[in-house]
Amino acid sequence: MRRPVIAGNWKLYKTVKETVQFVEQLKPLVQNSSHCDIVIAPPFTALSAAIHAAAGTNILVSGQDLFWEKEGAFTGEVSAPMLADLGCQFCIVGHSERRQYFGETNETVNRKTQAALAAGLTPIVCIGETLAEREVNQTHTVIQTQFDEGFNNLTVQDFFRIVVAYEPVWAIGTGRTATPEMAVEVHKQIRQFAQQKFGSEASRELRILYGGSVKPNNIKGLMAQVDIDGALVGGASLKADSFASMVNF
Ligand code: PGA
Repeated sequence: MRRPVIAGNWKLYKTVKETVQFVEQLKPLVQNSSHCDIVIAPPFTALSAAIHAAAGTNILVSGQDLFWEKEGAFTGEVSAPMLADLGCQFCIVGHSERRQYFGETNETVNRKTQAALAAGLTPIVCIGETLAEREVNQTHTVIQTQFDEGFNNLTVQDFFRIVVAYEPVWAIGTGRTATPEMAVEVHKQIRQFAQQKFGSEASRELRILYGGSVKPNNIKGLMAQVDIDGALVGGASLKADSFASMVNF
């Protein structure tokens, strides 16, 4: 059985004070929610506060990005061992906003994924097509390339520890969610790529999240699909009650 993951990607939102407030509000709302991994991804500056506030609870903390080197002359970067040392258990890798605005490529996604794994973090690796790519029927090819290049040189053992998030770029922050059927079609393809590259068991065990305008009012339909193992939520994860209602889908 694949354990669902409901993850909140806060992007560039929340101060330390707002983070602590959020966690305090969230705690009682999810204290009995043992059916899934509950993950929040605050900005770097609020990670420590989030980890402190969530200590002893079922709320897990994730980075939003990392750099692949452990240490060195890389001004402004944060490494995987630094996140692990802080108490993070997950890290988002290859979010489409990183690809779009900060030059992330499948190759850098691959390096970051390997760095996260080496540090004991669970990478949540994001893949997804743009609207232009979907409109010319390139979805399958784009996803396959992101998958193959992003997971190049990974062992089967490594792959067991990965979470994939399918996030169609046209659905992120637009209020335009993929229908459960559209999402499932791609999730099935991803599972097939996983099978070809890493074998049946790894493919069966792979947790594939959907992301892109997930809200309290559409999460149920998405989570009802056998091939959707959770959600990566942006905008709707910023309020504790809204996030809690998605955790308790
Ligand atoms: P959204 O963002 O839920 O605001 O569409 C999702 C994401 O970027 O992970």
